[in-house]
Amino acid sequence: MAGAAVKELVRIFEVSPRDGLQNEKGFVSTEDKIELVDLLSRAGFPSIEVTSFVSPKWVPQMRDAAEVFAGITKASGISYAALAPNEKGAERAVLGGADEIAVFVSASETFSRKNTNCTIDEGLARAGTVVRLAQRSGLKVRGYVSCVIDCPYEGVIAPQMVRPQVERLLETGCYEVSLGDTIGRGTQEQVANLLDFLAAKIPARHLAGHFHDTGGHAVGNVECALGYGLRCFDSAMAGLGGCPYAPGAAGNLDTKHLVDALDRLGYGHGIDRSSLEAAYATARRIKQRASEHV
Ligand code: HMG
Ligand code: MG
Repeated sequence: MAGAAVKELVRIFEVSPRDGLQNEKGFVSTEDKIELVDLLSRAGFPSIEVTSFVSPKWVPQMRDAAEVFAGITKASGISYAALAPNEKGAERAVLGGADEIAVFVSASETFSRKNTNCTIDEGLARAGTVVRLAQRSGLKVRGYVSCVIDCPYEGVIAPQMVRPQVERLLETGCYEVSLGDTIGRGTQEQVANLLDFLAAKIPARHLAGHFHDTGGHAVGNVECALGYGLRCFDSAMAGLGGCPYAPGAAGNLDTKHLVDALDRLGYGHGIDRSSLEAAYATARRIKQRASEHV
């Protein structure tokens, strides 16, 4: 008897505890953050971005990063990631117990300055320092390039502005670079245009998609990127998210929408549905509570 066809697996990189909560105005309690991460672990996400070790003056919401890491119950087989913009952040992430570190640069000079107070080149140099520090501690590093389609300050960004940053992050030692449509207005046509240009030089296994969903195109953009061979996508439970330094950026692609789309398209994802619902309900409650305490 023929067995069921093995589905090709897509890796979901769950970013709601970091990208999702960094943008909430009211402070989300450390307990709520820990509860969310633990529910995501139960649902079986292979990668969870737990928090960011950034300057608390810049993003006060993430000031309890060490406490969150100390409070979560790690499950085996899951990589718990932390965002770090510089050496200090990387040192804190290593001490905190991150399994991997994420560095972030931008394809737009203005956004780079607004978000990290440095030029793109300075951001890449900092990323290099983080990679070396992480590698000495045996941690892998993921990269982000923001504003791959649009910048909230500079407008449309050409693919020619994106590829050098992706290549430099990979040369530096990142195992993968996630392409950030930071303000979430990118269309399938723009994503195809970008990936046509990137894929000519960069293997799809080194690329991931990070589509905010302001314009409602995120699922379509995933479908488009799947066609180019990308097999890792970032998403946030209940569509939480945004960036405090990217005005107009709405939440990330909702993880539930991503899971539904992957089911519909016949890809595997390994996520347990009932645990997903529990995490979803908690994410919604956290968002509701944070908005009441502004
Ligand atoms: P700066 O002000 O130029 O840095 O900020 P500084 O070195 O002058 O430090 C200022 C103060 O912050 C000092 O404290 C430092 O010690 C402290 P003071 O001496 O004044 O008391 N500091 C830190 N504290 C803790 N951890 C650290 C750290 N670094 C400095 N790591 C800096 C430069 C990069 C630090 C700042 O701009 C920053 O933290 N930016 C982060 C902004 C951010 O988190 N944005 C959101 C994440 S990116 C995103 O959402 C996009 C993404 O999702 C993809 C997409 O959607 O496109 C990834
Ligand atoms: Mg983001």
